[in-house]
Amino acid sequence: MAEAAKSPSKEDRDEDEEAEDEEEDENENENEEGAQTGEKKKKQKKKPAKTEGTAGYPSTANGEEEKEDPDQQQHLLQMLRKRGPCEESRRQTAREHLFWDTQPVPSMGSEYGQDSGPLDELRTVDDVRAEPYPLPDKFEWCTCNVDDDKEIDEIYTLLTENYVEDDDSMFRFDYSIHFLRWALKPPEFLRSWHLGVRVQGGGKLVGFITGIPAKIRVFEKSIQMAEINFLCVHKRLRSKRLAPVLIKEITRRVNRENVWQAVYTAGVVLPRPISECRYWHRSLNPKKLIEVGFSHLGARMTMARTIKLYKVPDMPQLPGMREMKKEDVPRVHGLVLNYLRKFTLHPEFTPEEVEHWMLPRPGVVYCYVRENEKGEVTDVCSFYSLPSSILGHAKHNTLKAAYSYWNVASTVPLQDLMYDALILAKQQDFDVFNALDIMENESFLKELKFGIGDGYLQYYLYNWKCPRIEPRGIGLVLL
Ligand SMILES: CC(C)(COP(=O)(O)OP(=O)(O)OC[C@H]1O[C@@H](n2cnc3c(N)ncnc32)[C@H](O)[C@@H]1OP(=O)(O)O)[C@@H](O)C(=O)NCCC(=O)NCCS
Repeated sequence: MAEAAKSPSKEDRDEDEEAEDEEEDENENENEEGAQTGEKKKKQKKKPAKTEGTAGYPSTANGEEEKEDPDQQQHLLQMLRKRGPCEESRRQTAREHLFWDTQPVPSMGSEYGQDSGPLDELRTVDDVRAEPYPLPDKFEWCTCNVDDDKEIDEIYTLLTENYVEDDDSMFRFDYSIHFLRWALKPPEFLRSWHLGVRVQGGGKLVGFITGIPAKIRVFEKSIQMAEINFLCVHKRLRSKRLAPVLIKEITRRVNRENVWQAVYTAGVVLPRPISECRYWHRSLNPKKLIEVGFSHLGARMTMARTIKLYKVPDMPQLPGMREMKKEDVPRVHGLVLNYLRKFTLHPEFTPEEVEHWMLPRPGVVYCYVRENEKGEVTDVCSFYSLPSSILGHAKHNTLKAAYSYWNVASTVPLQDLMYDALILAKQQDFDVFNALDIMENESFLKELKFGIGDGYLQYYLYNWKCPRIEPRGIGLVLL
């Protein structure tokens, strides 16, 4: 899902200051191993933008914007003044949820029980309304065809201009067209789950939400679910309760396919997370990260020392590392399927899904295997490319971020495999390598000099109650 950076919290600042002290000492000993990052890391995660448009609906069929009049500007200022700091509101858990409190999700205050199961009464497809939910006047539903160059361009533009930003509006996710097609067309995808809202008469695309099918295991149950992603409302249409209509309509379309559960992630706290995870960031190009304000120079650190601290070798260190090939799919499928069983929440991939999600696609997803002397594939690591636009920077436009994906180390420590993943990401010119604290990632994050981000990624299930899951029990990465 999403990404952006924001100021480190006080707590994180303190943690980082301590890390800097450690780092300083270690640097002086000419020993970089085990040092934590010395920079104040900005996090990358899903969360709503700080600047929300409130000034009104598009006035023409093409969705051209109205000029703001002084009254509207006054209203906007009042709205902004009323708001508290973003982080505070994002994490606020006690507020009323006019929409979510009507949905089959556990309420914020309820206890996490030990039992699992659906929250809604069981229904059949025939019980699901056949017509789409009504939209406000001037808008209409559309099913997006991502194979159509014009339509994917419109989706790209909507997301690039309006999708997730950090609280300080310094960075905004910039999912590429190739990435969006990959993310939205796995085996068995449904066109009707690529849902858009347009200005009436086939006008401008102003809203979007998607689902893709996935078999997800949670505790003892394997459930056919929808993975929901890319919820976006144009900035000028925010706070008008369009998001609940998008969510209700995608739910209806999912239910019409006899699917009754969904999984999704967000930076915001909603009723009610099954797990709260954190992003960690590993600088690969610290000079640029500092220049763009993603991180900053640690106290008593020089740029030269920082660059040295994060330098990685030019070539992978493990013998036998190479790109994954199509012939590797059955073996990689076996490795990944078997490994993911360890985790309380995980996808149950078919071989076709492993081929789709893991076979390398330049600029989208990178996957490497380790082949031993006998020609057997024993380990695999992967990451995907999700750049962010750098907003209003004179020198840099794009932050190139790699995100840790599916990694299985069966013959080497996971840390060694991930060290090679960092090296391979650096070879591909990424500026930063991001990883969540999920799966067994804690075993390498500090050792490989990742710095903790300052925010959270919440995992949610729709229409399913279950006990809370610790990050180390999460075996699912959503894009
Ligand atoms: C997220 C977004 C679509 C919400 O739209 P909005 O205009 O701000 O909010 P609306 O008035 O339409 O709807 C508000 C409702 O949506 C809910 N909502 C907000 N963000 C949400 C999210 N990410 N997932 C699910 N529900 C969300 C709110 O909690 C609220 O419901 P509640 O009253 O029950 O709490 C919009 O802010 C946006 O496009 N942001 C940038 C992209 C983004 O953050 N996408 C989500 C990625 S996880």
